[in-house]
Amino acid sequence: MGVEERTTDMLVVGSGIAGCAAALAGARAGADVTLATKAARPEDSTSFWAQGGVAVARGDPETLKADIVEASDGLADPEAVDVLVSEADDAVRDVFVDTLDVDFDGDEAFDYGREAAHSEARILHVDAATGRHLLAPFLNHLADHDRVQVLEDTAALDLLTHEGRVHGAMIELDDEWAPCFAGATVLATGGIGACYRRSTNPPTATGDGIAMAALAGADVADMEYVQFHPTAFAGEGEIGDGQGTFLLSEAVRGEGAVLRNAEGERFMPDYHPDADLAPRDVVARAVKQERERTGAVRLDVSPLSFDDEFPDLADECQRRGIDPADGIPVAPAQHFLCGGIDVDTEGRTSLDRLFAVGECARTGVHGANRLASTSLLESLVWGLRAGEAAAGFDAERVEAPDLLDRDPALPDTFADEKFVRLRRVMTDSVGITRSTADLDRAASVLRRLKGEVDAYTRTRTSRSLYELRGAAVTALLVARAAADNDESRGCHHLEEGAAVDAD
Ligand code: SIN
Repeated sequence: MGVEERTTDMLVVGSGIAGCAAALAGARAGADVTLATKAARPEDSTSFWAQGGVAVARGDPETLKADIVEASDGLADPEAVDVLVSEADDAVRDVFVDTLDVDFDGDEAFDYGREAAHSEARILHVDAATGRHLLAPFLNHLADHDRVQVLEDTAALDLLTHEGRVHGAMIELDDEWAPCFAGATVLATGGIGACYRRSTNPPTATGDGIAMAALAGADVADMEYVQFHPTAFAGEGEIGDGQGTFLLSEAVRGEGAVLRNAEGERFMPDYHPDADLAPRDVVARAVKQERERTGAVRLDVSPLSFDDEFPDLADECQRRGIDPADGIPVAPAQHFLCGGIDVDTEGRTSLDRLFAVGECARTGVHGANRLASTSLLESLVWGLRAGEAAAGFDAERVEAPDLLDRDPALPDTFADEKFVRLRRVMTDSVGITRSTADLDRAASVLRRLKGEVDAYTRTRTSRSLYELRGAAVTALLVARAAADNDESRGCHHLEEGAAVDAD
């Protein structure tokens, strides 16, 4: 089928909550919006996988702000946090409640949940499957919107730039590509889970938007702060093999579940005064350490009625042959990138007419460690702000890169083999705990790998090659930022440790 050249007021790339919010706000402001997403189904977006929920301020923005700043290990940008907490309640009511009619648990009385490092119950949720209950109606709403055209299974390969201004992107479908010229471009491409062996993200999270923006010269920041979730199922599977891990939401600990090591001991009280509800980076390191010391960590769900309170998770356990009554084996897995494309409070990047929202953006809200259930909220608030700010620019045609004559064929398994290498290096050396020597060596392995990928992108074009390029560029940015930062803070934790395998 392929794609044809097109012109639009606003191009949004990505269809998670951030992309949908930007498209909605752009359309409300009068722009004709093209939303291009490489997702062929909603499940391909990280937002769909979100479990816990959406934190709101409940009329008390200062308390939410204090929790965010505390969890961020003091690195959150106060101006950005003020924006988030002061707009949280209205944005959630406007979009999720009034526009999309989302049926949060508890109906209008709202059954607010509590999660780690929150000083009070303030999380709106639908079971522990909140993401899908937000995203499905959002996509349906946009599909019916006169001003929004959604292009599914359509990837953005590269930005169209001219003299420091971004004019849209090259988009691809079915091995055909064409320019999409846009008055403004909003990147909402999500995270980087595909750079790690174990991640709670879908395998499509290849860092595309961050790589495209960085290659076009946009500033990125805080790339070393990669958040690992402490309680992902500790199975053997890896991302992309169909048997990857699955998340056991922090909401489960919020409802009373506790972590126990292989000797059956509760260990979190020895690590932090808030025990199992300590900030995520602290719990993730503790779980890693107890697994190394005693051999296993289990999530003991006996203090709650797990099957009734978390039916989706109970079903997933059953599907994998796990009996929750025995405790669910857990291990940390990559979960979220706190840094990304550097943006202001309206989602503007350092490049003219380029905006970024959601996980690919670094708003400053998360500092060195993100507070639970603030990512969907940040996606919503910044999506709305950026969508509004990006409306009102006319598209201009510029010269598009000459991708059209290139040979789409790639050696079989090329991308798969490179991904295996990339994930091994990132997992072994740019993980929960890091050493400066390992980080330096990881950066040099990744630089070589990126060079090999670049050699192919000079002569060939395919979606899988560009996804690999996205992952290689992003992984290198993470490794370099981590190697350059000698201060342990939040998710960036330095200690002398494992050696990198440089093959
Ligand atoms: C979770 O449900 O534990 C994840 C929530 C989040 O990452 O904010």
